[in-house]
Amino acid sequence: MTEATESIQLRRREQWLERFAHYRERLTRQDWNPLVEGVLRRVVGLTIEAVGCRAPVGSHCRVETADGGFIDAEVVGFSEDSVFLMPTGELAGLVPNARVIPTGKTSRVPVGDGLLGRVLDGTGRPLDGNGPLETSEEVSMTGRMINPLARQPIDEPLDVGIRSINSLLTVGRGQRMGLFAGSGVGKSVLLGMMTRFTEADVIVVGLIGERGREVNEFVQETLGEEGMRRAVVVATPADNPPLMRLQGAWLSTRIAEHFRDRGRKVLLLMDSLTRFAQAQREVALSIGEPPATKGYPPSVFAKLPQLVERAGNGDQGEGSITAFYTVLVEGDDQTDPVADSARAILDGHVVLSRAVAESGLYPAIDVEASVSRAMTAITDEAQQEQVKRFRQYYSLYRQNQDLISVGAYKRGSDPRLDEAVGYWPRIQEFLRQGMNERVSFEGSLAALKQLHSQPSEPKTGQQSVRREAESGARPQPRQAAKAYSGAAE
Ligand SMILES: Nc1ncnc2c1ncn2[C@@H]1O[C@H](COP(=O)(O)OP(=O)(O)OP(=O)(O)O)[C@@H](O)[C@H]1O
Ligand SMILES: [Mg+2]
Repeated sequence: MTEATESIQLRRREQWLERFAHYRERLTRQDWNPLVEGVLRRVVGLTIEAVGCRAPVGSHCRVETADGGFIDAEVVGFSEDSVFLMPTGELAGLVPNARVIPTGKTSRVPVGDGLLGRVLDGTGRPLDGNGPLETSEEVSMTGRMINPLARQPIDEPLDVGIRSINSLLTVGRGQRMGLFAGSGVGKSVLLGMMTRFTEADVIVVGLIGERGREVNEFVQETLGEEGMRRAVVVATPADNPPLMRLQGAWLSTRIAEHFRDRGRKVLLLMDSLTRFAQAQREVALSIGEPPATKGYPPSVFAKLPQLVERAGNGDQGEGSITAFYTVLVEGDDQTDPVADSARAILDGHVVLSRAVAESGLYPAIDVEASVSRAMTAITDEAQQEQVKRFRQYYSLYRQNQDLISVGAYKRGSDPRLDEAVGYWPRIQEFLRQGMNERVSFEGSLAALKQLHSQPSEPKTGQQSVRREAESGARPQPRQAAKAYSGAAE
């Protein structure tokens, strides 16, 4: 080899080294994380199993379908070399060995005032056909945890427009309440009433895992044009995959957080928390988590407080999220594990009773079983005293209701029960409220005060004396009981 060719070769080598220098540098950089495609190995139920790719839990992948399109899936777990994914949409069109391409992205959601008046799906895409969202900001789905010491206390009552709740179960701004009932007892209607009547800057509604038909009903009838102006609805009905239903709950919470962080007073309504728990159960069971309590895996009971704790008051200077979660109590079993767990983590619960609903008294609130844990901090002594008296009469009557309605109770045997019986029609009238009737906070307190200020019904059966005179006959015990039970549910 001549000297000339040798020098040319040397120069060329240097040129090539120079040309590839930046590739060499990128390859040796610590933060360089190449996206390696994997392949689809298994699809069982709703779980997709991929091998060969490295994607963190919570990130998204695109899975190629037979027709060359892609479906979006989120990493929900892994085992050795397999990554478990769940689709955020339809699962149709997947084939063995399809490409699985990690996008390296986690869920981000659009936020801002442009969301007001819109209906979104679980990923934050508009469902209402009113064009793209006019938001300029995107945030990660995971909100920030609030230091419990920095959280503002609940110290101000909130007018929810329902007489019985305002007065007997006063809700504070920033409180998180549960609405517990069996199916068809009136949870959604009561939630709808509160949506329309509550004072709030922004209302975020999460319709999670319930009927699709109800979404339109909620938007058109419950909220209406006026209500929608200050509302954002996130709808992931029952036919959505479990991951979407979960996302719907997280998304509505995230949106509420965004408005709270900007000082707004937010009302967050979620229908229902049970469906959120069931979606989490579906996801967890399908990736192999063992069931623990009544078929629910432990992660369900870890996620419930994570979701609920994100609502509430913010740090100093921030706004608040007052939240209502409906909880389905299956077979009216109040010891259902989800209901039990929810009751423990929420700041109070309004229980609706099937027996009351069947008697036609709506909202069918069971005053005895319901409690607002923030009540003593936000109400004065006079109100607390009136509530105590109301509760005493209420439970006394309820405990003896069966006796009274079969005519086994005789007036005069217990003066306190006589008084409760005298109060009962008024108690019922007080609790009854039409779907379109709003009762202000002051109005509710005034009604409670008035209930006690009127003298109770005559203790010595004046009514039955009048009836006797009308019928011309002395009533039999059963008929006399009717005078009571007519007032009963
Ligand atoms: N305040 C009310 N006034 C009159 N009727 C009511 C009232 N609340 C509920 N109802 C009646 O009860 C029915 C069921 O109510 P709703 O749909 O709210 O129950 P739900 O508890 O949400 O049921 P599900 O568990 O099936 O979702 C309503 O269709 C309505 O007929
Ligand atoms: Mg409902």
